[in-house]
Amino acid sequence: MKKLFTLAAIALAAFTLISCAGKSKNAVASTQKEETVMKPAASEATGMAAKFMKSTEKTKEEEKAHAAEMEGFEQKEALYESAARHGFKLGTVINPQNLQKKAYTDMVKADFNSLTAGNEFKAYSLLNQSASQKNENGMPAMNYYNADKIAEFAQANGIGIRGHVLVWDAYMPSWFFREGYKNDGAFVSSDVMKKRLQYYIEEVVAHFEEKYPGVVYCWDVVNEAVADGTNECKADDPRRVRTSRGGTTNYFYDVIGPDYVELSFKYARQAAKKANANIKLFYNDYNTFYSPKREAIGKLIESINKDEKLCDGVGMQGYVGGYGQQSGCMSANDINLFKNAITFYSKMGLEVQVTELALRNYEKEKAEQHAKYYENFFKMLAAAADETKSLTCVAIWGICDNPALPKNDYSYKMNGPYCGMFNYDCSKKPEFFRVAKALE
Ligand code: GLA
Repeated sequence: MKKLFTLAAIALAAFTLISCAGKSKNAVASTQKEETVMKPAASEATGMAAKFMKSTEKTKEEEKAHAAEMEGFEQKEALYESAARHGFKLGTVINPQNLQKKAYTDMVKADFNSLTAGNEFKAYSLLNQSASQKNENGMPAMNYYNADKIAEFAQANGIGIRGHVLVWDAYMPSWFFREGYKNDGAFVSSDVMKKRLQYYIEEVVAHFEEKYPGVVYCWDVVNEAVADGTNECKADDPRRVRTSRGGTTNYFYDVIGPDYVELSFKYARQAAKKANANIKLFYNDYNTFYSPKREAIGKLIESINKDEKLCDGVGMQGYVGGYGQQSGCMSANDINLFKNAITFYSKMGLEVQVTELALRNYEKEKAEQHAKYYENFFKMLAAAADETKSLTCVAIWGICDNPALPKNDYSYKMNGPYCGMFNYDCSKKPEFFRVAKALE
C-alpha cells in the first residue's frame, strides 16, 4: 500500500492522479481476494489501444452474428428514453481520455443521460497539496481542471452528472489529515479535521452548482464505508464502518471519529442547501446485494437518517460475477439477490441507483450467454423499477469490451474483458439490442 501511495504521488505530479484507482470487489466468497493494482497510465492505455485495433477487426462470422442479432430490431428511440419509461436514467462512465475519442462521446450522446467521472470528482483528484499549504485560511484548496472538462461536456450535451464521490477512504493521501498539509506533519485534532471536511464538501458542491447549475443532480457522499467482514471494523459496530482497508488505516475514522459518515452527510446536506441546489445524496458501496453487508448498510443509513433524512438513497455499484475469473460469472442467483436488495432498500424509503454496473465475462466464447444474461438482468431492473418506483438511475461502467487487457491488469479483473454492451470501438454489441428489447 505504501508503494502504491509513492507511485500515486508521482502520478499526481505528472497527471493529477487521473489514472490510478482501484481495489478488489469480492463478489463471491469463493473468489475473495484483497488486491490493489494501478490502472494503466494514459500512455500505456494509448499503446494498448493501438495494439488492440488489430484484434478488433471483425471476422466475417462475427459480422454475420451481429447482423442477425440486429435483424428484425429497429431502435425506435434512444436507450435512455426507454429507461425513462421505467423511471430511471441510463448512465455510464467517462474520463478525460474518453472525451478525446469521438466514437466514445458519440456513444454517450446517443444513448445516455447520466455520466459519472471515473476518478476526476474524487477528493484525491481535486485536492491540491501545495495550494492547500499556501491557503491563508488554513483550509484545503482544490484544482478542478479535469473535473471541469467533464462537467462542460455534460452541460453542453444536456446530460446530468452523478457526483462521485465526496468522501472515500481509499487512496486518500494522509497529508489531508496532517498539520500544515505536510506529508510528515502530526495528525490534526478531530475538531480541525471536521472543519476541513465541512469546508471541502461545501466548496466542492458549490463549485459545480455555481459553474454548471443543475448539472450535478446527485452526489455519492460516502463510498464503501462498510466493511465486508468483521475484521476491518469494530466487533460491536452494527454499521460495520471500516476502521481500515487492506491493512491501511481509514483516516476519516481515525482522525474524525466513528461518526464521520453521519457527519459527512450532515455537511453535504448543509452544502446543498447553502448552494440552493436540488441534489440527492447517496451512500455508495459494492457487494450491496449480499447479506450480511446489505443489512449493515441498512443499519448505517438508519443511523445517518436518525434525526433527519440526510441520505436519500443507496448506490449499488454492481460488479456482478467472479473477480478476475469466469467462475461465479452470470449467475442467475445474483439476479435474484440484486432484485431482493432493490426491494429491501426501497422499503426503507430510499431511492436506489445502480452506479457502476459491470456484468463480468472473461471468455469470448460465452458471448451469447452474456447477451442473454444482460437481457435477463435488465428485465429484472425494469421490473424492480416498475414495482418499487425507487430505481432512479442505472449507470454502466463495464460499458465497452477491452480484450487486449492483460490478465494481471486491474480493469481486466474488475470488469472482465468481454463485459460490454459495446465493442472496444464503441460499436453496438448484441447486448445493446437485448437491453433495448428488455426495456421496451
Ligand atoms: C470503486 C469506486 C470507483 C472506481 C472503482 C474502480 O468502485 O467507487 O470510483 O474507482 O472502484 O474502477
